[in-house]
Amino acid sequence: MTAGLRVSDDPLASPVLAPRYYTDPAVFEAERASVFHASWIYMCHAGEVAEPGSMLPRTIHGEPLVVVRNREGELRAFHNVCQHRAMQVVKERCRRNVLQCPYHGWVYDLDGRLVSARRTAHLETFDRTSLGLLPVRFAEIDSFVFVNIDGTAPPAEEIFGPVFADARACGVEPAGLLKARHIDYEIRANWKVVIDNFVESYHTEVAHPGYCEYADFDRAFVEDGPWHTLMGGPPARHVLESCRRGGTPGVTANRYNWAWPTTMVLFSPGPANLFIWEAIPLSWERTVFRHTFFFDRDEDDLLPEQQAHISMDGALQAEDTALVEGVWQGLNSRAAPRVGRYVVNDRETQHSERAVWRFHHRLQGLYDTNDIHQHHSGERVS
Ligand code: FES
Ligand SMILES: [Fe+2]
Repeated sequence: MTAGLRVSDDPLASPVLAPRYYTDPAVFEAERASVFHASWIYMCHAGEVAEPGSMLPRTIHGEPLVVVRNREGELRAFHNVCQHRAMQVVKERCRRNVLQCPYHGWVYDLDGRLVSARRTAHLETFDRTSLGLLPVRFAEIDSFVFVNIDGTAPPAEEIFGPVFADARACGVEPAGLLKARHIDYEIRANWKVVIDNFVESYHTEVAHPGYCEYADFDRAFVEDGPWHTLMGGPPARHVLESCRRGGTPGVTANRYNWAWPTTMVLFSPGPANLFIWEAIPLSWERTVFRHTFFFDRDEDDLLPEQQAHISMDGALQAEDTALVEGVWQGLNSRAAPRVGRYVVNDRETQHSERAVWRFHHRLQGLYDTNDIHQHHSGERVS
């Protein structure tokens, strides 16, 4: 097999990630295990499972999971798969004393132990203790809950620690946040195009003129670490002044942060707010971009500045969706860039694509290690 062009160690000279890694469904299939199951994926906010007995199911990259608060008030996370005949045990967010499977009624306690199985007394060698729900690795970082399906990811603190430390330093208090709602944007593109577009602001001056009036873009920056990217800067003077006039202490900076592979953490100046954005791939060519809004109060009581964040969200996302879907068409074209370049600029990092290179470089390493080739479908390119 021909090796093809690879993302190299030198971002200034490297070609971009080859188009076939985006457009080949077999690459996406391989990413399920090598990227998604091997990484920390956002599950929920701890406040969504606040009371003993609260439980919240969610299917993450094909795996039905459930997070449970046990009697002692500790979190537990399990595969939401009954060990009788594989039914999903918890259907929706709820509060119960036990987890009871809706199929044949087997009952698990809040620590996942099988405590009763109907009409099994006559069975020989029936060992309840070996039939508990299977735990899944999870981590709670500043009240946000993440899961790592295959258990091999580096400690979650390494990935998300810097992002949430930055949030706290900017006046966000994650523990007190409540989920207001989420908006799902359906995007016709591979999930990586969504991330590529998110981690650089080289496109901002051209594609988001409105945003440049809201933020002090000349003083904006991108700071990239091994697993995350902090992007942001001070708000424009008029935004800062109106925050001060509002008199509500709160968040003091603007951030568009990303953590490997699909979680984004954003906040804006003004009264308490934080948004989690998730790129949720449905297939190699379709992605849901879920924007979830958290504030310090119920949705019915939001302050006007908080309400404004929700209303502004759609306009900016529409600009980005058009860009991402345009790129997707181009990547599927015969004329997709074979070499491409990263526009790296370490003096004005807000105009740099270094973070795109870093994201691709990590992916390239995973593709190489897992023998995922850009000519996966058998086509030979010389
Ligand atoms: S599948 Fe759950 S009780 Fe049968
Ligand atoms: Fe954008």
